[in-house]
Amino acid sequence: MYRKRTIYFEHMEPTFTSSPALSKRERYEQFLTEFAPFIEGEDDRISAMANTAAALHEAFGFFWVGFYLVHDELWLHLGPFQGSVACSRIRHGRGVCGTAWAKAQTLIVPDVDAFPGHIACSSLSRSEIVVPMINGGKVIGVLDIDSDCLDAFDEDDRRGLEAVVKHIISA
Ligand code: SME
Repeated sequence: MYRKRTIYFEHMEPTFTSSPALSKRERYEQFLTEFAPFIEGEDDRISAMANTAAALHEAFGFFWVGFYLVHDELWLHLGPFQGSVACSRIRHGRGVCGTAWAKAQTLIVPDVDAFPGHIACSSLSRSEIVVPMINGGKVIGVLDIDSDCLDAFDEDDRRGLEAVVKHIISA
């Protein structure tokens, strides 16, 4: 484990690029190529999530990107994130995050105002994607990304972000 950790010390300033000239799918492929070796061997999940939020924010310019973590099987607690201050507790089954947790599946919300029970942490948020983090068949948290544009997320985001989450779980 120590040998793997030295990788981080030797590369203290990795950058995560995402060329606008590429298609969205290609941008995720490029991101995952840079991200996978960076996160490999990081056995502290909070550190992995903190760097993942920063890397996604840097590469894609998402309005808000962060994690909520399952606590006591009833609540999601706010975890590492990039963006403005957000609500710190979400109940199981509530909002987009709590619903993605309850259903154990990725939710894409093209218009947050049309989602019953959406929790508005920022009035600027217009669309959202939430990807559950599933470990050993159990949801342990969610990756939540907000956009200030309507209909910002599609199947390419779902595939790309589910792959990102898998890397965190298996690291
Ligand atoms: N909109 C989310 C709440 C979290 S914020 O977007 C950061 C929801 O409805 O669960």
